[in-house]
Amino acid sequence: MKKITILLAAVLMNIGIAQAQNNGLAAPRFLSDNHAIERVTTTQRYILLPVEEKEETAEVRVNQDNYCVKSIRVRLAIGKPDYYVPLDLSEFGQKKPLSLDIVFPANRRSSGNIETFSCWQTMKASDTFDSKNREKYRPAYHHSPAWGWMNDPNGMFYKDGVWNLYFQHNPYGSLWDNMTWGHSTSKDLVHWTFEGDPVQPDAWGTIFSGSSIVDHENAAGYGKDAIIAYYTSAREAQTQSMAYSTDNGKTFTKVADNPIITVKAPDFRDPHVIYAEDFKTYYMPVSCGQHMNIYSSKNLKDWKFESSFGEGYGNHDGVWECPDLMKMKNGKWVLVCNINPGGPFGGSATQYFVGTFDGHKFTCESKPEVTKWMDYGKDHYATVTFNNAPDGRHVALAWMSNWQYATQVPTQQFRSANSIPRDLELFRDGDEEYVSVVPSKEMLAARGKKLSSPSAACEIVVSNLRNEATITLSNAKGEQVTMVYNAKAKTFSMDRRKSGQKDFSEAFPVVTTAPTHGKINSLRIFVDRCSIEAFDADGKMAMTNLVFPSSPYNKLSVKGGKAMIFEIK
Ligand code: FRU
Repeated sequence: MKKITILLAAVLMNIGIAQAQNNGLAAPRFLSDNHAIERVTTTQRYILLPVEEKEETAEVRVNQDNYCVKSIRVRLAIGKPDYYVPLDLSEFGQKKPLSLDIVFPANRRSSGNIETFSCWQTMKASDTFDSKNREKYRPAYHHSPAWGWMNDPNGMFYKDGVWNLYFQHNPYGSLWDNMTWGHSTSKDLVHWTFEGDPVQPDAWGTIFSGSSIVDHENAAGYGKDAIIAYYTSAREAQTQSMAYSTDNGKTFTKVADNPIITVKAPDFRDPHVIYAEDFKTYYMPVSCGQHMNIYSSKNLKDWKFESSFGEGYGNHDGVWECPDLMKMKNGKWVLVCNINPGGPFGGSATQYFVGTFDGHKFTCESKPEVTKWMDYGKDHYATVTFNNAPDGRHVALAWMSNWQYATQVPTQQFRSANSIPRDLELFRDGDEEYVSVVPSKEMLAARGKKLSSPSAACEIVVSNLRNEATITLSNAKGEQVTMVYNAKAKTFSMDRRKSGQKDFSEAFPVVTTAPTHGKINSLRIFVDRCSIEAFDADGKMAMTNLVFPSSPYNKLSVKGGKAMIFEIK
């Protein structure tokens, strides 16, 4: 019996190899139990790599003319592939032949013989890669990556009518790895086009989060209105690097003397560059452990350490990440500080500080023990604003997930989406000023016709809110999300404990509760396949939560208010 199985495996394997040969790859040469070489013989554009998420990561080195020209980490399929990712051969030119030098982990979990791994049969050359994947939880009107994993928004800027969004992207799988800046553009902040992966890992490491600035003054010397990007190079150390673009952010050239800022500390990342008209100076907050370092520069290239903010202030239950610094209309400054873990409902969240900035140092005007959260849902992280937004607007996007379960959410070929765009300003409640969060005006422009019941992707407006109101979204399977407004308690809450799929993480089924800072007159609630974002229309409360109903919520019940439902165009 054993003999027959081995024979069958050998026959299957030969078929596999024959297919692979037809598919633009030579028969693999096996060098050990965990090492093989595949010579690429195709003239087609892509090699489609089969991924099986439960597998461990193989290292795939692309060798050309005896040099390694790219090295990526991929969970190559040993059994049944979950999905494919494209290795784009046009990156390497067509001149010289390529080989894939593939090393599986030495202690690989997969039992069996390397020669029988399914990837030798399923890897294939192709001229196309279909990224029009429409999984049921892929949002209709939120930005999500065309394929692969996404986390933080990065390097966002607006120029000549185009909103540019870069993002932490793994183009080779739907789990966090191979960090690269993906790029998408939009003319309306709602519909996005994927433009490629313009900032790729290099000798200094993978590309972590950062920012861009439109260089109106040609301060850096790469031309007026060049785009200058700052990002963290992450390898054994985290250091800050710089790149510039003279084609409106489509391609970037990294400067030769990277890294441009280094310190002797392990968590040092996410540079956010701004221009402060008041001081005719550029500033760069960078997170460093549990505080924010602030650097200054006149030429966008040479950076001087000015000060550090954070000791004893706000929440310190996690690492401080992804800062932003902005001057508001009333002259006050806001320092944004994303923190993970430590959020109000566990895991990741966005805290901020309101105060003054004198060109050297940020001073928080609240008592040290005061913690302010920008959004009281569980899925609002890494929030930063666009550089150069029109009319002095502070337009923010968040990553709509939480590190507690981001890798486990039930999607496959892609993972994660951004929040809808929100405009930030300040409002006062008693002695404190808080950041107000309203859906950007572009969301009004995206409103379509009125609907009689909710669809998978719609906006619900609940006006004339009474002092007690309950809003329930549900489907025929009995899955539901209940939102409760209580004017007396000054709270708004969202219960997703029965919202649909939730068993992927114990941290997922929760009720989130927000303070309302006074009366809410009307709510705007955005539903999009796997998310619900609820806003006080006046901006005093925002709450962003993921939900995974097995079929879309198509029933709405409102007690204590008047509802209207709109399609989103
Ligand atoms: C936040 C973060 C950043 C880092 C990036 C890496 O989600 O941890 O601090 O730059 O993700 O992907």
